[in-house]
Amino acid sequence: MRELSLNDLPKHSPWPGRLLGRDDWAEQPGHGGVGIDAYDEVYATLLGLARENPEMGFREVQRSANHHAEESPVAISRAEDLFLVDVDEKQTLQDEATVAALAGLLDGGETVVSLGCGWGYELGVLAEAYPDCEFVGGDPTESGVALGRELFGDHDRIRVEPFDFRDDEWDLLEEVLEASESDDEVVLFTQGSLTALPSVHDIVSETLTDYADRVKAGVHLEHVYELHPEETLLGLLRRQYTDFRNYNDDLLASLQAAGGIDIATATYDVVGGNPLHPLSEIRWESV
Ligand SMILES: C[S@@+](CC[C@H](N)C(=O)[O-])C[C@H]1O[C@@H](n2cnc3c(N)ncnc32)[C@H](O)[C@@H]1O
Repeated sequence: MRELSLNDLPKHSPWPGRLLGRDDWAEQPGHGGVGIDAYDEVYATLLGLARENPEMGFREVQRSANHHAEESPVAISRAEDLFLVDVDEKQTLQDEATVAALAGLLDGGETVVSLGCGWGYELGVLAEAYPDCEFVGGDPTESGVALGRELFGDHDRIRVEPFDFRDDEWDLLEEVLEASESDDEVVLFTQGSLTALPSVHDIVSETLTDYADRVKAGVHLEHVYELHPEETLLGLLRRQYTDFRNYNDDLLASLQAAGGIDIATATYDVVGGNPLHPLSEIRWESV
């Protein structure tokens, strides 16, 4: 892991140039964010790979996707410092952030419901780290659910089901809550999935809050616009990135305004696989 100055970031990321209008990226289709169809396509390719290579485990599938997408070294961030790491090290740092997001919250016996889990890579990582808990993931992509089932179909503590934040009722979460013996058994988790929505205000205030008093805690490892400083160059570039991609800028404000939720911690830039779009960690409890 080598330190990288912000000045040198353009050598390792196309984003500063794109954000400052130095290329024609803004004219390209898809510049305004990654839609569900695009995720579905990526997961379909990985599903083909997994079906052709049944010996591949979930980590190998992810590793193959990572090496297809990027070449070492890659730029990352941690707590507003930038570094160059190799592709595998970046995945290790992201996995550590995933596991740390739930540290101290799970006593054993809980079910973590990960909403917008993609094909469920994070479920595999968490299930290894927390062997006494169960992990249920939901995603709207058909191929994501199919790949999750391909890779984890035999796993007795992991399952992946269809789910969409935009539904009026979250049947998947409801079903897990109904099956649990007490309100203290279910943890609501998201990682990089609320990001995909242009605004989360209605989803938080109209749907998430309906379930808040029945879960043990909520944990979001997400891109949190409001935490980007307005008085630093890095903070301003990060704000611009979110605007440019049409990702949400209202997660923290929506949770703060939501009834029945008390934000316990909000930790900025836990890890940034894209240094201009870092993951921050928010934990809340119901009041
Ligand atoms: C960046 S990926 C993150 C996937 C996974 N959580 C991870 O960290 O690797 C964003 C995910 O959000 C999902 N997503 C997009 N729109 C969604 C929606 N309306 N409801 C639920 N998930 C959604 C996508 O299908 C995709 O799997």
